Amino acid sequence: MLSLPVLLATLLALLCRATAIEIDVGDEDSIKHAAFVFSHGMMSYYNGNQSGETPGMFVDPYYWWEAGAAWDTLLGYWYLTGDTTYNDQVKSSLLYQTGNDNNYVPSNQSTTEGNDDQAFWIFAALTACERNFSNPDGDDDPSWLTLAENGFNSMANRWDSANCGGGLRWQIFTWNDGYDYKNTISNAGLFLIAARLARYTSNDTYVEWAERAYNWTEDVGFLNTEYYFFYDGADISENCTDIDELQWSYNAAIFLAGAAFLYNYTEDELWYNRTWNILTGIGVFFDSNSSIMYEAACEVGGNCNTDQLSFKAYLARYLGLTASLVLDTYDTIMNHLTTTTTGVAQSCVGGTDNVTCGSTWLNKGWDDTWGLGQEMAALEVVQNLLIGSVDPPLTATTGGSSVVDNDTDSSSDDVITTADKAGAGVLTSFVLIVILMFGWWLIL
Ligand SMILES: *[C@@H]1O[C@H](CO)[C@@H](O)[C@H](O)[C@H]1NC(C)=O
Ligand SMILES: *[C@@H]1O[C@H](CO)[C@@H](O)[C@H](O)[C@H]1NC(C)=O
Ligand SMILES: *[C@@H]1O[C@H](CO)[C@@H](O)[C@H](O)[C@H]1NC(C)=O
Ligand SMILES: *[C@@H]1O[C@H](CO)[C@@H](O)[C@H](O)[C@H]1NC(C)=O
Ligand SMILES: *[C@@H]1O[C@H](CO)[C@@H](O)[C@H](O)[C@H]1NC(C)=O
Ligand SMILES: *[C@@H]1O[C@H](CO)[C@@H](O)[C@H](O)[C@H]1NC(C)=O
Ligand SMILES: *[C@@H]1O[C@H](CO)[C@@H](O)[C@H](O)[C@H]1NC(C)=O
Ligand SMILES: *[C@@H]1O[C@H](CO)[C@@H](O)[C@H](O)[C@H]1NC(C)=O
Ligand SMILES: *[C@@H]1O[C@H](CO)[C@@H](O)[C@H](O)[C@H]1NC(C)=O
Ligand SMILES: *[C@@H]1O[C@H](CO)[C@@H](O)[C@H](O)[C@H]1NC(C)=O
Ligand SMILES: *[C@@H]1O[C@H](CO)[C@@H](O)[C@H](O)[C@H]1NC(C)=O
Repeated sequence: MLSLPVLLATLLALLCRATAIEIDVGDEDSIKHAAFVFSHGMMSYYNGNQSGETPGMFVDPYYWWEAGAAWDTLLGYWYLTGDTTYNDQVKSSLLYQTGNDNNYVPSNQSTTEGNDDQAFWIFAALTACERNFSNPDGDDDPSWLTLAENGFNSMANRWDSANCGGGLRWQIFTWNDGYDYKNTISNAGLFLIAARLARYTSNDTYVEWAERAYNWTEDVGFLNTEYYFFYDGADISENCTDIDELQWSYNAAIFLAGAAFLYNYTEDELWYNRTWNILTGIGVFFDSNSSIMYEAACEVGGNCNTDQLSFKAYLARYLGLTASLVLDTYDTIMNHLTTTTTGVAQSCVGGTDNVTCGSTWLNKGWDDTWGLGQEMAALEVVQNLLIGSVDPPLTATTGGSSVVDNDTDSSSDDVITTADKAGAGVLTSFVLIVILMFGWWLIL
């Protein structure tokens, strides 16, 4: 028999635990507090500013691409909440990882970097332009716009008309697995980068590139125009006809935002319609009972990998941007983010700090998992509740101060030495062995 005081204490502890993070969606301070807590959670995976570590990189097992995505999330944290805590680290990271050609193809990443990976860092440079983030001030530093344009040029140069009627391959380098695969995310990346550059610079060459990427994605069948579902991709060996129909939320989210930027810039009804069609298709990523966001392809089975655990971050981020660019989507999008916040609040009650976020937000309570992607996703949901109280993304004519450098090399050759290639071969074999062993373990 429990004594009354023990019972009361237990009850109190349970109550405290259940309400470890309260988020009142109608109260800016409450939202900002939750955002601070999750941003802090994210940064617990960053050690790149310690001696001997690499600036810009998060701890193992987070790949380079996710680091770029994380800095973009923290740029969002700054402009949505006004908290400048991480700005210096964001800036130094975005400048450390530019690579020799100032286009986000650093030679250290020659074994991991695909077109999609590069795109996530370019997205961050674009955010810096559109939010008038502190300009680089070192003599040799490229400007944010230079980084974005160089990045765009290097990606556009890889457009591959020889296979499947166009499109980008997944990989940049021939020696990486997936070089023969064309995927939606790489083309979504090119599409969003082109759409944002078009709006920021008012240069219509970028509109044409955005259309090219969109048209191809539709023509090849990666976009299902009945439901506005985006599929994963296909191998070039069958002319991209053998399509992997898995749907990942970031593909739809990035196409959504690209369409919104294009409508905002061109005022063409075609992009307005596409924005709404894609937004409707995105309903597939909200649980039909609770209306809470989830990664439909892997979450319920609990088999999302490290990368996939961060995808909801981009869905929330690009829903927010869309709401600020195509204004009559605002209510629908706020509704999505508000119902999802209920899920975030019930999940982010774990760990020793009682505010660690789990992978799924559908269950009452924490699911005993943790990581950079989980914190990032929770942060993007709550911070985007504030999108209505900040300015829309700037352009070169509305106050964005980043301009192209006249003297920075915009060469887009991805020069990689033979030493890198040899290293890549060894690493690829190693990764393959690990994957095979893991697959064998899964079958067992
Ligand atoms: C590194 O970043 C962490 C997290 O923001 C911060 O707490 C720490 O003070 C930083 N260390 C240095 C040496 O800048
Ligand atoms: C590349 O790797 C080396 C060795 O780990 C490291 O010292 C350097 O900082 C890295 N550079 C970048 C841009 O990541
Ligand atoms: C390959 O696919 C592209 C895009 O769907 C199409 O335009 C082209 O005609 C196809 N080529 C062949 C040989 O089937
Ligand atoms: C527009 O952008 C394209 C692609 O980067 C570039 O080649 C062209 O010079 C730009 N046009 C103007 C007027 O700046
Ligand atoms: C995209 O497709 C539309 C027709 O569906 C066409 O009018 C437009 O010229 C195409 N744009 C590009 C750049 O291919
Ligand atoms: C946009 O959708 C509306 C309503 O379905 C339709 O009437 C209109 O023709 C569409 N516009 C374009 C450019 O597709
Ligand atoms: C929705 O709720 C009902 C009743 O609680 C349950 O049977 C069903 O499995 C739920 N569906 C989903 C998709 O969670
Ligand atoms: C573009 O976005 C701005 C800022 O939200 C808004 O004022 C403007 O009406 C939008 N343009 C269009 C065509 O919707
Ligand atoms: C977390 O919750 C447990 C159980 O309620 C409590 O004992 C512990 O002190 C809390 N830790 C923190 C850091 O709040
Ligand atoms: C953008 O930044 C520049 C340089 O720091 C500053 O002069 C300008 O006032 C800023 N513009 C806006 C709209 O904040
Ligand atoms: C780049 O060159 C153009 C034309 O010579 C000039 O108008 C512009 O101010 C220069 N920009 C910078 C950042 O030096």
